[in-house]
Amino acid sequence: MTPLTGIRACVFDAYGTLLDVHAAAKRESEAQGMDLARLSVVWRQKQLEYTWLRSLMGRYVDFERITADALDYALDSEGLVDPQRRERLLALYRRLDAYSDAAACLRDLRDRGLATAILSNGSPAMLDAAVEAAGLTPLLDQVLSVDALGVYKPDPRVYHLAVERLEMPANAILFVSANGWDVAGAAAFGFRVAWLNRTAAPPERLDAQPDRIVATLDEIGALLGIP
Ligand code: 2OP
Repeated sequence: MTPLTGIRACVFDAYGTLLDVHAAAKRESEAQGMDLARLSVVWRQKQLEYTWLRSLMGRYVDFERITADALDYALDSEGLVDPQRRERLLALYRRLDAYSDAAACLRDLRDRGLATAILSNGSPAMLDAAVEAAGLTPLLDQVLSVDALGVYKPDPRVYHLAVERLEMPANAILFVSANGWDVAGAAAFGFRVAWLNRTAAPPERLDAQPDRIVATLDEIGALLGIP
C-alpha cells in the first residue's frame, strides 16, 4: 500500500480509540462479581446519542454531564439503579485504561518526528484526568476538547480546531479513530484518516471513507513512509 506522504501530525480520538470505554464496567463487574457488559454498551451508545442530539438541539452541556446522564439512563434501563454503583462507575470512567497499543504508537510517531494530539468530545477535566491516569500525558503535544466550541463531533468546527491549534492544513494531519461515525466526519472535513477497526465492524454508509483501515495502533507508523 502506498504511504500517506506529507503527514506532519497524528490526531487521535480518545474514547474508544486510545482509552477503553468499557474498562469502567469491566472493573466494576470484577469488583462486584457481576456481568455489566450490556450496561456498558447501553451507556456508551446513549452517551454518543446525547452528544449528537444536544448538538442538533443547540443544547450543549459538557461530556462529563452527558456521561453521567447516559449512565443514569443505562442503569435505569437495566434495572441497576444504585447511587454507590453510579459513583464508582463515574470515578472509574475518569481513569479509563488505555488500550495496550496506545503508548507505543504515540512513542513511535514521536520518534518519526510527528506531532501528536488528542481531539475529543471529552471535557478538559475528564481528558486531563484520564490521559494522566493512562500515563499518556508526556506523549501528547496537545489535548484538544470540543468544550472550547460548545458543539460535538462530527460537526466540522470540531475538526477545524485541530487545524487551528496545530497550525497546519487538514491534509498534513492523519486523524485516527475507532468510531466509524467519527471517521466519516473527519474524512468529510478533509483530514487524511485511518480507521482503527479493532472489532472487524462493517463500514459506515456515510459516503466519506477513511484513507486506510488498521486493526491495531501498531500499524499506524508504517502508514506514513517515514523511517
Ligand atoms: C471522543 O473521544 C466520543 O470517542 C469520542 O471524542
